[in-house]
Amino acid sequence: MILIDGKKAAVELREELKIEVSGLKSKYNKVPGLTVILIGGLAPSQIYVRNKEKSANEVGLKSDVIRYPDSVEEKTVLDKIYELNKDDSVSGILVQLPLPKHIDKQKVIEAILPSKDVDGFHPMNVGNLSSGYESSVPCTPLGCYLLIKKIEPNLSGKKAVIVGRSNLNGKPMTQLLLKENCTVTITHSKTKDLKGECLKGDIIVAAVGMPELVKGDWVKKDAIVIDVGINKTDKGIVGDVAFDEVSKVAKALTPVPGGVGPMTIACLLKNTIECFKRSQK
Ligand code: GUN
Repeated sequence: MILIDGKKAAVELREELKIEVSGLKSKYNKVPGLTVILIGGLAPSQIYVRNKEKSANEVGLKSDVIRYPDSVEEKTVLDKIYELNKDDSVSGILVQLPLPKHIDKQKVIEAILPSKDVDGFHPMNVGNLSSGYESSVPCTPLGCYLLIKKIEPNLSGKKAVIVGRSNLNGKPMTQLLLKENCTVTITHSKTKDLKGECLKGDIIVAAVGMPELVKGDWVKKDAIVIDVGINKTDKGIVGDVAFDEVSKVAKALTPVPGGVGPMTIACLLKNTIECFKRSQK
């Protein structure tokens, strides 16, 4: 079984990006800039944002974090986004989710210029991705996609089963694999025979947030299994895949932690660079 090392893949991707940023700096005499807006003091968000900032600096991007208290008014955040939209030194804008309840997430997402939407959450980018046009692609599914391609460069005709239909993961993952000519089944909480569907997959991507849902006897021999889950349990952090059981059947499997997670942040940097390059055209 191949243990898919997301940490190593992320290091390699960051190395490539660092070289690319250095080339862009020589060519344009400026570097891509990422601005993150962080509202409130949720611990996981604080940790993510700190990691994003550290990684951005490491590859040579300009990186800013704008922090607001939980009580900030929606208008203040929207006005800041409009200001960043006009700022040429800002290539990418990310508003860390989740947001406090009094702030309308959709309004915030739609305020970001699609060309600076490094999350790929703006409806314009969602539509472009599903139409097969150039777009920002959400970072987690992009990271999963790059890991799958490392194991199996030719995905044409493969059966992929996505567990979970979220806008963040399941839906964009489907689009990326469709583009590679996979036959994609998207499953969810109302799917009748989830085990039976999973057993058909040459590739399984589990992104539902249910601890160890995908069992060993749900997985076809030699399938590639990607685990997006991060679930806190009494045993510690586990994924959506029962790792020990599935590792006996799968050809390749991502661990949790150390699988998809590190690639997500590296892909955010990649998206920031892509936004910068498109803005220079
Ligand atoms: N919170 C957890 N994951 C994400 C992400 O990918 N993007 C944003 N903006 N917030 C998040």
